[in-house]
Amino acid sequence: MAQQEEEKEEKIVQETFRWLHRHPELSYEEVETTKRVREVLQEHDVAVLDSSLKTGLVAEVGTADSSGPVVALRADIDALPVTEETGLPYASKTPGRMHACGHDFHTSALLGAALLLKQKETELPGRVKLVFQPAEEAPGGAKKVLETGLLGDVAAVFGLHVSPLLPVGTLGIRAGAVTASVDRFQITFRGKGTHAAHPDAGIDPIPAAAAFIQAAQTIVSRNLNPFAPGLVSITHVEGGNTWNVIPETVLVEGTTRSLGKEERQLIRENLCRLAECIAEGHGSQAEIDWYEGPPATDNTPEWVEVARQAAQKQPLEVVEASASLAGEDFAYYQETLPGAFVLVGTGRSYSNHNPKFQVDPAALWPAAKYLAGLAEAALQHLSSHFGGKGKAGGAKI
Ligand code: NI
Repeated sequence: MAQQEEEKEEKIVQETFRWLHRHPELSYEEVETTKRVREVLQEHDVAVLDSSLKTGLVAEVGTADSSGPVVALRADIDALPVTEETGLPYASKTPGRMHACGHDFHTSALLGAALLLKQKETELPGRVKLVFQPAEEAPGGAKKVLETGLLGDVAAVFGLHVSPLLPVGTLGIRAGAVTASVDRFQITFRGKGTHAAHPDAGIDPIPAAAAFIQAAQTIVSRNLNPFAPGLVSITHVEGGNTWNVIPETVLVEGTTRSLGKEERQLIRENLCRLAECIAEGHGSQAEIDWYEGPPATDNTPEWVEVARQAAQKQPLEVVEASASLAGEDFAYYQETLPGAFVLVGTGRSYSNHNPKFQVDPAALWPAAKYLAGLAEAALQHLSSHFGGKGKAGGAKI
């Protein structure tokens, strides 16, 4: 592509990034964000596909010949309920709303990839679906995208996330899990309220909750294989509202994380058993509400290799990514589709979700070029492995 053309596109991507950063929208409320993305795509003749999505969209670039392979690139577009404190000239204009997880970066990088792929559309050996996904933070926007059926013909899916732990110019890649399964629990210890001076007339739920909170930490230290990462975090405890009343209930809320399916199940079973048995031992009851979030991401080794090689064609240094026990709903795509989720170094900063979190925009255009190059490499990989035509559509390697 002519240098001049590329500079023009980079400018559009940088401007879009700053606009998105100034106009953050929460999960499932990404109306203006979707409008802006649609406008940029349509100005560049990138086809936006019809779908049931209320926010977010799926676009497509590639040869009209529908028998070629199809791959998908995914970016999440939502922001967080955080008040920005970066002092950036393009800081959020809405208090209580901030792109504190870099999804504005992901969205603009994918837009850049769309423009770059559009330039060489006729040379592509297949099609690329560009997924601008709503509500990653909800989480579960990925499920909405999967429900559209638009990814039914996709053979591999790729996504990226900014990493404040990696410097600009680096890409963190890793086979297997790079983020964890996320579960949330709410346990209500139910006793019988009474006067603080007459505990014998009731059932105090506080000692049961306290014993449970202590015991819950033994799951990771005593039940889990010491070589398997996992955690139990209790983050919210609520019971009683004054000094001389023993309350009826105590709420204990938290989250469990792990990188493997077995560990996920083990933590859940042990946590529920402890809650129920401890409550029973105290003569009270434990009512458990369990909310399953996304599973752990699962990067396919073959596609990790393709992702690694694509980085070598860019001025990007590949490093081994460290796994995190944070969650990422990209994992829902990986339940049925092979692919890879990679980390892009965006400079050292406060951590994601912090009011002072920021990304270095210098990492943006290289990320856009990388995504475009990765999609192209993935299509070529599928074409050379399966002869392209006839083997497309859900082909898994
Ligand atoms: Ni995020």
